[in-house]
Amino acid sequence: MNNTTNPYEKIPVKVFNNSRCASVWIAGEISQIIKQKQAQQLPCVLGLATGSTPIQVYKELIRLHKEEGLSFQNVITFNLDEYFPIPKESLHSYYHFMHENLFNHVDIKKENIHIPDGTLIKEQIEDFCQYYENLILEKGGLDFQLLGIGSTGHIGFNEPGSSINSKTRLITLDRKTRADASSSFYGIENVPKYAITMGIGTILQAKKIIIAAFTEGKQKIASTVIEGAISSQYPATFLQNHKNTLFVLERASAQGLTRYQAPWLLEAQGLKGELQIKYDLSTAKKGVIWLSQKVGKPILRLQQEDYEDNGLLELITQIGQGNCGIVNLTVFRELSQIITGWPAGGRPDKLPESYFTQKKAISKQKIIIFSPHPDDDVICMGGTMKKLTNQGHEVHVVYMVSGNLAVFDFDALRFADVLKETQKMIGGNGEEFYEKVKKQIKEKKLGEVDGPDLAYIKTVIRRTEARSAALCTGVEEQNIHFLDLPFYETGKSTKRPLGDEDKKIVKDIILKIQPDQIYAAGDLTDPHGTHRVCLESILAVLPQVKEQLPNLNTLLYRGAWQEWELDKVTMAVPLSPDELYEKRIAIFKHQSQKDRPMFPGSDSREFWQRSESRNKETARLFTNLGFVNYEALECFVSLDVLLLLGEL
Ligand code: F6R
Repeated sequence: MNNTTNPYEKIPVKVFNNSRCASVWIAGEISQIIKQKQAQQLPCVLGLATGSTPIQVYKELIRLHKEEGLSFQNVITFNLDEYFPIPKESLHSYYHFMHENLFNHVDIKKENIHIPDGTLIKEQIEDFCQYYENLILEKGGLDFQLLGIGSTGHIGFNEPGSSINSKTRLITLDRKTRADASSSFYGIENVPKYAITMGIGTILQAKKIIIAAFTEGKQKIASTVIEGAISSQYPATFLQNHKNTLFVLERASAQGLTRYQAPWLLEAQGLKGELQIKYDLSTAKKGVIWLSQKVGKPILRLQQEDYEDNGLLELITQIGQGNCGIVNLTVFRELSQIITGWPAGGRPDKLPESYFTQKKAISKQKIIIFSPHPDDDVICMGGTMKKLTNQGHEVHVVYMVSGNLAVFDFDALRFADVLKETQKMIGGNGEEFYEKVKKQIKEKKLGEVDGPDLAYIKTVIRRTEARSAALCTGVEEQNIHFLDLPFYETGKSTKRPLGDEDKKIVKDIILKIQPDQIYAAGDLTDPHGTHRVCLESILAVLPQVKEQLPNLNTLLYRGAWQEWELDKVTMAVPLSPDELYEKRIAIFKHQSQKDRPMFPGSDSREFWQRSESRNKETARLFTNLGFVNYEALECFVSLDVLLLLGEL
C-alpha cells in the first residue's frame, strides 16, 4: 500500500523548500519517464492536469526541451478534464491553457494531444467518454499521471461523492470548486456548471502518479488526504490505494501534517531516529499550546501525565528540569507578554484620561502600514490602526496596488453616472466620459482587459473607498499614499513578475517616511498571489534601508484569508466590542467589496465577517489557554521571527 515509515501518512510524501524546487523536480521525473520510453523506442503516455499547480512544472519541461533537447516526439498526452460547455478558443478552456502553457512550446505531435471536448452536444458526451477511455487503453494506458488537488479534495473534477471505480464522464461541479475558480472567471456566475473528467478509476490505472499541492491554502486538504480515512467525501483519499503515488508538497502546504504539527508524536513512537527534538522556547510554546488544546485544559492546569500521555515528556526534561509546572509557567508567561494594547510601545503608567476620546502623543512613533489591496489594512488590522492613531503616533497607510480588477462593471458605470450628473452642475464633460465607460463595458468579452476609462474609474472607486476607510481609523489625509505598483497593472489576474521599478517605488516611500515600525501583509493566500508579490517587494527593500533605519521593527498581519498559528504570534492586540464595531464600520467603507466581492476565494462570508470571526476566534483560543476573556484579538508576527524559523 505505502512504503512510508510514518504511520500518520498513508501516501508517501516528499516536501520541498518551495514550489519552484518541487516543480523542477517533478519535471525531472517526467523527463526521465519520457527518456526511458524513448530508449525503449516506445510511446510515453502522460496524463496531464491544468490549474495553478502544474504551471511551473510545464515551464521547466519547456526549458528542458529548449535548452537540454528533451523531445516530446514519442509523447502522447491525455488531459484530465475540461469545462463543459466551453469553446476551445475561450481563454478559460483547458484546451487554451494546455496550448498556452505547454503544447505550443514543445515538439509534441498535434495528433498525440487529447483533451476532453467541451464543445460537444450533451447527447454526444457518453460516447465521447467511452471513446476517451478506450483510447487511453489502446495507447497502452497512462505511464504517468500528474495531479493537482482541489479544496473539495477532487482530483480531475471528481467531486465529493465520486466512486473509486468511476470512469470518464460528465460531472456537475461542486459549488466550492466553482467559487475557487470564480476569481479567474470574474464572478462565480461565469464559471461553467459542468465538466468532463477522467474518473477516479481511470486515474488509478496510471502506472505512476504524482499529486502536487502548493501554497498555504492547500495545507488542510493535503493533510486530510494524506492522513485521513479513505472516503468518497475526499476523492483524493482513494490514492491511498494506489501502489505508486507520491504526494509532493512545499513547506507551506505541508504544515498541516502531523510531522510538523506535533513532531513529538513521531518521536514518541521512535520514528524520528537520531532526529530527537531539541526544545527551545519556540518549540516549547508550540508543544504546550497543542497539548492544552488537545486535552482541553488551560496551560496552568496541565499535569505531568498530560505531557507523558501525549509524547511530550522530553519537553519537561529539557525545558522544565523534570517539572511540568516550570514548563507551564514559562510558556504562560511568554504568552502573556505578547498581549498588548500599545502596539507601538509607550504604554503609560496610568491611562491618560483622553485615551478613548482624543489623540495624545505617547512617545510618538512613525509607522507605515503597507496594504497590498486598498482594503487589507482595515480588514486585517483596523482595530490596531485606530489604537495607533489614538495613541498619537504618526500613522501612514501605503496602498500598494490599485485593486481595480476587483470592481464590478456595474459599479463603475454607476460612478461614471454620478460624475455625469455632478458635472451638469459644476461643468465639465461627464456625459462623454460616461459614454466611453459604457462602450468599453459593452464591447469587452469575458476575461478581456478593461478599456482605459473603465480601468481608471475602477481605480478611483477603490482609492476613494480606501481613503474614506483610513480616515475612519484616524489616519490623516496627507498620510495616505497610493503606489499603484506596475507589476499589478496588467488588467488581468495574471500579473507581471516583481520588477526593479516596483522595488524602487517601495524603497522611496520607506526612505521618505523614515518609519520606526512597519506593518505588512503576511496573508499570502489571496486568489491572485498579489499579497505574496507585495511582501516580496518589501523583503527585497528592507536590507537596502537597514543602514538608514537600524531600529526598524517589521510586523506582519493576516486576516481575510488565514490567521497566524498561535505559537508564532509575537503581538496580540485586544479589541473591545466597541473597537471591533468601529473596525467593521471602516471595512464597510469598501462598498465595492461588500455584499458580494468579485474575488471572494472559497469563503462565502463577507470580509468583515471573516475578519471578526478570526479576531474573536483568537480571543477564544487565548481564553481556553487560561488568559483573560477578551472580545477579540488582532495578531501580528515579527518578521525577524519568521526569518529565524526559515518561513519566508
Ligand atoms: C485540473 C484539475 C483539477 C486541479 C485542482 C487544483 O486539470 O483536474 O483537479 O488540479 O482543481 O487546481 P489548482 O492547481 O489551480 O489549485
